Amino acid sequence: MLFPVIMAGGHGSRLWPLSRQQHPKQFLPLVDESLSMLQATLMRLDELNTAPPLLICNEQHRFLAAEQVRQLSGLQAQIMLEPVGRNTAPAIALAALFAAERVVGEQTCEQAEDALLLALPADHAMSDVPAFQAAVQAAMPLARAGKLVTFGIAPTRAETGYGYLHRGSSIEGTDGFDVAQFVEKPDRERAEAYLAAGDHDWNSGIFLFSAKRYLQELARFQPEVLAACRAALAGSTRDLDFIRLDAEAFAACPAISVDYGIMEHTSAAAMVPLKAGWSDVGSWSALAEQRGQDERGNTLCGDVLTEQVDHCLIHADSRLVTALGVANLVIVETKDAVLVAHKDREQDVKRLVEQLEAQG
Ligand code: GDD
Ligand code: MG
Repeated sequence: MLFPVIMAGGHGSRLWPLSRQQHPKQFLPLVDESLSMLQATLMRLDELNTAPPLLICNEQHRFLAAEQVRQLSGLQAQIMLEPVGRNTAPAIALAALFAAERVVGEQTCEQAEDALLLALPADHAMSDVPAFQAAVQAAMPLARAGKLVTFGIAPTRAETGYGYLHRGSSIEGTDGFDVAQFVEKPDRERAEAYLAAGDHDWNSGIFLFSAKRYLQELARFQPEVLAACRAALAGSTRDLDFIRLDAEAFAACPAISVDYGIMEHTSAAAMVPLKAGWSDVGSWSALAEQRGQDERGNTLCGDVLTEQVDHCLIHADSRLVTALGVANLVIVETKDAVLVAHKDREQDVKRLVEQLEAQG
């Protein structure tokens, strides 16, 4: 049985000021006008014949999440609330413990061993949904055989915000490859070397593995995360349709991503190529790529007037924005904040937001 877990607890701060703490990017209709990124993620599971998805997000977004699930009529999903964010290794651990328990509770132990967890970021775009579904199906035998499967994207630039998968030998009888080495967010020099070598893929951030196997690797590499997540789930309560974790137990959990915490250490990593028009919409340039560009390389959204402007992304939310004789800028206007940044500095928007948060 396939158990989807949607990780929806991130800040999306690189897309500030559109993406806000109160309303992060996964809850915004950034690519598709009628669906938020989270809703598009849920819709992508259609036809995969999965168990009801488990959505894990921050407590402060519970009504946003519940409302967006409700809007997708016929969809059943459970929502687990984190009192604080502890990154993705704990979020997936909670899902693995939850899925294993649920299957043991309702079915047989044999099926519990079979529970496959499909961990999905809530904020990715994909243009070819059938290709995504086919890749998931191709990965299932590998996950059943104990692999921790990631989905690899052919890289197009030396991006430093992604994980890199050094492709090992192909796994006989499957579409997959062993991962010889997993390197999360390398520096620019290494990212350039990986791109030049041609034997590395980007980690899409989507994973498939058996709940049991993930918990084994967690016990080995992050035992404190496992212990804290067990305690947080053991002390959890039900409130309306929400599963609320024991706040004190979860607060004691170390914050670490699945990439740094597990994937960089495990020797069971495998990769299935994903050719589905994937984008993580993780920066203003990535969003511009999704929205398309005009003949001068500009992406203009809303009420925008330009003259001699090249390779800019300009987004006007509530006012007219005009620009004259500028290039390679990101200009994003919202009611209460405006961002003007050089495209080369777009990864630093995250730092800017951290500074703002520190100032209160
Ligand atoms: N529930 C929960 N709790 N979800 C979280 C938390 C948390 O504390 N932190 C992040 N998430 C969610 C985010 O909302 C997002 O959907 C997903 O987990 C991944 O987190 P990001 O913070 O966006 O990770 P990243 O983009 O820096 O890196 C990951 O994705 C890249 C591809 O987009 C890594 O897996 C990289 O290796 C990968 O290349
Ligand atoms: Mg991301």
